[in-house]
Amino acid sequence: MVLVAPSILSADFSKLGEEIKAVEMAGADWIHIDVMDGHFVPNLTIGPVVVKSIRKTTSLPFDVHLMISNPEKYIERFVDAGADILTVHIETVENPLEVINKIRDLGCKAGLTLNPDTPFKRISEFVSEVDLVLIMTVYPGFSGQKFKEEMIPKISEARKKIDSIRRDIYLEVDGGINDKTSILAKNAGADVLVAGNHVFKNKNYEKAISLLKKH
Ligand code: DX5
Ligand code: ZN
Repeated sequence: MVLVAPSILSADFSKLGEEIKAVEMAGADWIHIDVMDGHFVPNLTIGPVVVKSIRKTTSLPFDVHLMISNPEKYIERFVDAGADILTVHIETVENPLEVINKIRDLGCKAGLTLNPDTPFKRISEFVSEVDLVLIMTVYPGFSGQKFKEEMIPKISEARKKIDSIRRDIYLEVDGGINDKTSILAKNAGADVLVAGNHVFKNKNYEKAISLLKKH
Protein backbone atom coordinates (compact mmCIF):
# COMPACT_ATOMS: atom_id res chain seq x y z
CA MET A 1 0.00 0.00 0.00
CA VAL A 2 1.05 3.57 -0.63
CA LEU A 3 2.69 5.51 2.22
CA VAL A 4 1.34 8.93 3.19
CA ALA A 5 3.62 11.74 4.35
CA PRO A 6 1.64 14.78 5.56
CA SER A 7 3.55 18.02 4.92
CA ILE A 8 3.56 20.10 8.09
CA LEU A 9 3.87 23.26 6.01
CA SER A 10 0.04 23.23 5.96
CA ALA A 11 -0.28 22.57 9.71
CA ASP A 12 -1.15 25.09 12.41
CA PHE A 13 2.32 26.23 13.51
CA SER A 14 1.00 27.56 16.83
CA LYS A 15 0.48 23.92 17.86
CA LEU A 16 2.89 22.02 15.68
CA GLY A 17 3.56 19.23 18.18
CA GLU A 18 -0.15 18.50 18.58
CA GLU A 19 -0.64 18.56 14.82
CA ILE A 20 2.12 15.98 14.32
CA LYS A 21 0.65 13.72 17.02
CA ALA A 22 -2.78 14.07 15.42
CA VAL A 23 -1.61 12.95 11.97
CA GLU A 24 0.34 10.10 13.54
CA MET A 25 -2.86 8.92 15.25
CA ALA A 26 -4.69 9.38 11.95
CA GLY A 27 -2.44 6.92 10.10
CA ALA A 28 0.45 9.01 8.70
CA ASP A 29 3.50 6.94 7.76
CA TRP A 30 6.12 9.70 7.60
CA ILE A 31 6.23 13.40 8.47
CA HIS A 32 7.23 15.56 5.47
CA ILE A 33 9.17 18.68 6.45
CA ASP A 34 9.60 21.42 3.84
CA VAL A 35 12.76 23.47 4.33
CA MET A 36 12.91 26.68 2.28
CA ASP A 37 15.60 29.36 2.26
CA GLY A 38 14.10 32.37 0.46
CA HIS A 39 16.79 31.92 -2.20
CA PHE A 40 16.26 28.67 -4.10
CA VAL A 41 12.52 29.18 -3.58
CA PRO A 42 10.64 32.39 -2.72
CA ASN A 43 9.56 31.38 0.78
CA LEU A 44 11.08 30.82 4.23
CA THR A 45 10.05 27.99 6.50
CA ILE A 46 11.69 25.60 8.92
CA GLY A 47 15.30 25.11 10.04
CA PRO A 48 17.14 22.48 12.10
CA VAL A 49 16.16 24.11 15.41
CA VAL A 50 12.48 23.42 14.77
CA VAL A 51 13.19 19.93 13.44
CA LYS A 52 15.07 19.13 16.65
CA SER A 53 12.27 20.36 18.84
CA ILE A 54 9.50 18.46 17.01
CA ARG A 55 11.64 15.31 17.01
CA LYS A 56 10.42 14.70 20.58
CA THR A 57 6.78 14.55 19.51
CA THR A 58 6.80 11.41 17.34
CA SER A 59 8.77 8.35 16.35
CA LEU A 60 7.58 8.53 12.73
CA PRO A 61 10.36 8.98 10.15
CA PHE A 62 11.17 12.61 9.30
CA ASP A 63 11.21 13.07 5.52
CA VAL A 64 13.06 16.36 5.09
CA HIS A 65 12.75 18.11 1.70
CA LEU A 66 15.54 20.66 1.33
CA MET A 67 14.56 23.48 -1.01
CA ILE A 68 17.73 25.41 -0.28
CA SER A 69 20.84 26.53 -2.14
CA ASN A 70 24.11 24.83 -1.08
CA PRO A 71 22.34 22.03 0.84
CA GLU A 72 25.71 20.33 1.51
CA LYS A 73 26.42 23.00 4.16
CA TYR A 74 23.45 21.95 6.28
CA ILE A 75 23.40 18.16 6.03
CA GLU A 76 25.02 17.44 9.41
CA ARG A 77 22.73 19.88 11.17
CA PHE A 78 19.57 18.28 9.80
CA VAL A 79 20.82 14.76 10.51
CA ASP A 80 21.74 15.77 14.09
CA ALA A 81 18.29 17.35 14.45
CA GLY A 82 16.66 14.01 13.64
CA ALA A 83 16.11 13.73 9.88
CA ASP A 84 15.67 10.16 8.64
CA ILE A 85 15.54 11.02 4.93
CA LEU A 86 17.19 14.11 3.43
CA THR A 87 16.17 15.02 -0.11
CA VAL A 88 18.08 17.58 -2.17
CA HIS A 89 17.23 19.25 -5.48
CA ILE A 90 19.47 18.38 -8.43
CA GLU A 91 19.38 22.10 -9.35
CA THR A 92 21.18 22.98 -6.09
CA VAL A 93 24.12 20.56 -6.12
CA GLU A 94 27.28 20.73 -8.20
CA ASN A 95 28.40 17.23 -7.33
CA PRO A 96 25.30 15.10 -6.64
CA LEU A 97 27.22 11.93 -5.76
CA GLU A 98 29.32 13.70 -3.18
CA VAL A 99 26.21 15.11 -1.49
CA ILE A 100 24.33 11.79 -1.64
CA ASN A 101 27.29 9.95 -0.12
CA LYS A 102 27.70 12.55 2.58
CA ILE A 103 24.07 12.04 3.63
CA ARG A 104 24.30 8.25 3.56
CA ASP A 105 27.63 8.19 5.42
CA LEU A 106 25.86 9.94 8.29
CA GLY A 107 23.38 7.06 8.51
CA CYS A 108 20.55 8.98 6.85
CA LYS A 109 18.60 7.99 3.74
CA ALA A 110 19.29 10.18 0.70
CA GLY A 111 16.70 11.46 -1.73
CA LEU A 112 17.01 13.33 -5.01
CA THR A 113 14.39 15.58 -6.56
CA LEU A 114 13.92 17.95 -9.46
CA ASN A 115 11.75 20.92 -10.38
CA PRO A 116 8.84 20.48 -12.83
CA ASP A 117 10.88 22.13 -15.61
CA THR A 118 13.91 19.89 -15.11
CA PRO A 119 13.87 16.77 -17.30
CA PHE A 120 14.17 13.35 -15.66
CA LYS A 121 17.41 12.64 -17.53
CA ARG A 122 19.18 15.13 -15.24
CA ILE A 123 18.81 12.68 -12.32
CA SER A 124 18.61 9.37 -14.16
CA GLU A 125 22.26 8.35 -13.69
CA PHE A 126 22.05 8.97 -9.91
CA VAL A 127 18.88 6.97 -9.21
CA SER A 128 20.84 3.79 -8.42
CA GLU A 129 22.73 5.72 -5.71
CA VAL A 130 19.75 7.06 -3.74
CA ASP A 131 17.06 5.73 -1.39
CA LEU A 132 14.28 7.96 -2.68
CA VAL A 133 13.33 9.79 -5.86
CA LEU A 134 10.90 12.67 -5.44
CA ILE A 135 8.90 13.96 -8.39
CA MET A 136 7.58 17.49 -7.86
CA THR A 137 4.09 18.02 -9.24
CA VAL A 138 4.07 21.76 -8.41
CA TYR A 139 6.75 24.45 -8.50
CA PRO A 140 8.34 24.23 -5.05
CA GLY A 141 7.72 27.08 -2.63
CA PHE A 142 4.14 26.92 -1.44
CA SER A 143 1.50 24.45 -0.34
CA GLY A 144 -2.02 24.47 -1.77
CA GLN A 145 -1.08 24.60 -5.47
CA LYS A 146 -2.70 22.63 -8.30
CA PHE A 147 -1.27 19.22 -9.24
CA LYS A 148 0.52 19.43 -12.61
CA GLU A 149 -0.88 16.51 -14.59
CA GLU A 150 1.82 16.97 -17.22
CA MET A 151 4.24 15.49 -14.66
CA ILE A 152 2.57 12.06 -14.91
CA PRO A 153 4.96 10.81 -17.66
CA LYS A 154 7.88 11.84 -15.46
CA ILE A 155 6.50 9.72 -12.59
CA SER A 156 6.19 6.75 -14.98
CA GLU A 157 9.72 7.34 -16.25
CA ALA A 158 11.04 7.31 -12.69
CA ARG A 159 9.06 4.11 -11.94
CA LYS A 160 10.62 2.39 -14.96
CA LYS A 161 14.11 3.45 -13.99
CA ILE A 162 13.67 2.27 -10.38
CA ASP A 163 12.24 -1.08 -11.52
CA SER A 164 15.22 -1.59 -13.82
CA ILE A 165 17.58 -1.17 -10.84
CA ARG A 166 15.72 -3.70 -8.66
CA ARG A 167 16.63 -2.19 -5.32
CA ASP A 168 14.34 -0.69 -2.68
CA ILE A 169 14.05 2.92 -3.77
CA TYR A 170 10.99 4.94 -2.83
CA LEU A 171 9.16 6.91 -5.51
CA GLU A 172 7.55 9.91 -3.84
CA VAL A 173 5.26 12.52 -5.38
CA ASP A 174 4.82 15.99 -3.86
CA GLY A 175 2.43 18.84 -4.68
CA GLY A 176 -1.32 19.15 -5.10
CA ILE A 177 -2.11 15.62 -3.94
CA ASN A 178 -5.77 15.02 -3.09
CA ASP A 179 -8.21 12.09 -3.31
CA LYS A 180 -8.33 12.42 -7.13
CA THR A 181 -4.74 13.28 -8.08
CA SER A 182 -3.48 10.57 -5.70
CA ILE A 183 -5.01 7.99 -8.04
CA LEU A 184 -3.13 9.45 -11.02
CA ALA A 185 0.14 9.45 -9.08
CA LYS A 186 -0.33 5.87 -7.84
CA ASN A 187 -1.28 4.59 -11.29
CA ALA A 188 1.92 6.11 -12.63
CA GLY A 189 3.90 4.19 -9.99
CA ALA A 190 4.22 6.41 -6.91
CA ASP A 191 4.59 4.62 -3.59
CA VAL A 192 4.82 7.62 -1.24
CA LEU A 193 2.40 10.55 -1.39
CA VAL A 194 3.13 13.89 0.26
CA ALA A 195 0.00 15.83 1.18
CA GLY A 196 -0.22 19.26 2.81
CA ASN A 197 -3.55 20.98 2.36
CA HIS A 198 -5.49 17.79 1.65
CA VAL A 199 -4.71 16.54 5.17
CA PHE A 200 -4.32 19.63 7.34
CA LYS A 201 -7.16 21.67 5.82
CA ASN A 202 -9.52 18.73 6.34
CA LYS A 203 -11.38 18.53 9.65
CA ASN A 204 -10.95 14.76 9.72
CA TYR A 205 -7.27 13.84 9.29
CA GLU A 206 -7.98 10.12 9.48
CA LYS A 207 -10.49 10.28 6.66
CA ALA A 208 -8.17 12.46 4.55
CA ILE A 209 -5.27 10.02 4.94
CA SER A 210 -7.36 6.90 4.36
CA LEU A 211 -8.77 8.42 1.15
CA LEU A 212 -5.22 8.66 -0.20
CA LYS A 213 -4.54 5.03 0.65
CA LYS A 214 -7.73 3.79 -1.01
CA HIS A 215 -7.82 2.28 -4.58
C1 DX5 B 1 5.93 22.56 -2.08
C2 DX5 B 1 6.24 21.59 -0.97
C3 DX5 B 1 5.14 20.60 -0.75
C4 DX5 B 1 3.83 21.23 -0.35
C5 DX5 B 1 2.72 20.23 -0.35
O1 DX5 B 1 7.00 23.41 -2.22
O2 DX5 B 1 7.41 20.88 -1.24
O3 DX5 B 1 5.54 19.61 0.16
O4 DX5 B 1 3.91 21.85 0.88
O5 DX5 B 1 1.51 20.89 -0.09
P1 DX5 B 1 0.17 20.57 -0.90
O6 DX5 B 1 -0.11 19.11 -0.72
O7 DX5 B 1 -0.85 21.45 -0.27
O8 DX5 B 1 0.45 20.89 -2.35
ZN1 ZN C 1 7.85 19.01 -0.05
